[in-house]
Amino acid sequence: MIVRMAEKEDLEQVNLLRRQVNDLHVAGKPEVFKPGFSDELRQYINVIWADPEQWIAVAEADGAVRGFAVLHHIHRPENPFMYERDFLDIDEFCVDEAWHRQGIATAMIDFIREFAAAHGFHRLELNMWEFNREALAFYEAAGFATFRRYMEMFI
Ligand SMILES: CC(C)(COP(=O)(O)OP(=O)(O)OC[C@H]1O[C@@H](n2cnc3c(N)ncnc32)[C@H](O)[C@@H]1OP(=O)(O)O)[C@@H](O)C(=O)NCCC(=O)NCCS
Repeated sequence: MIVRMAEKEDLEQVNLLRRQVNDLHVAGKPEVFKPGFSDELRQYINVIWADPEQWIAVAEADGAVRGFAVLHHIHRPENPFMYERDFLDIDEFCVDEAWHRQGIATAMIDFIREFAAAHGFHRLELNMWEFNREALAFYEAAGFATFRRYMEMFI
């Protein structure tokens, strides 16, 4: 298995995994996420691809894409509340469900850390939905710590 930056030819396979994540989000938070995988969602991979501030990493094994991550350079200028912030956000992250628990996500995080260090990013950030306990277990095992929470109450 190798982790590398995506080629344009990989994007269709990346979309198969993006669909898996969308289905998971629809099942876990149906009042928020739209079911199915619309053409707009499918095409959005091309917007990411064309953005110089975003990168798509893929894990390839047995000749196919088994995992992917979307990385996004975020720069927030200083404001009255906060200092300037500059970090690499992991916007999307998934390993093919048939390939879980084989260390692929761990290898992707290693790759992302090396990429971040090589590009002068000193902080990784990501957000996730609270229902997704498996992702939380993975991210904590990988060394991420929660630094902020979103809370809600239904009326
Ligand atoms: C979360 C996810 C990326 C983990 O990928 P993976 O390749 O299976 O993870 P790894 O094999 O590298 O796991 C490394 C360690 O993380 C922890 N871990 C991973 N998945 C876990 C799970 N389902 N339950 C508990 N711990 C888990 C374990 O400590 C594991 O080590 P072990 O297998 O030796 O016990 C994968 O489950 C996934 O793609 N889920 C669906 C998409 C998703 O939720 N993406 C995140 C959206 S924000």
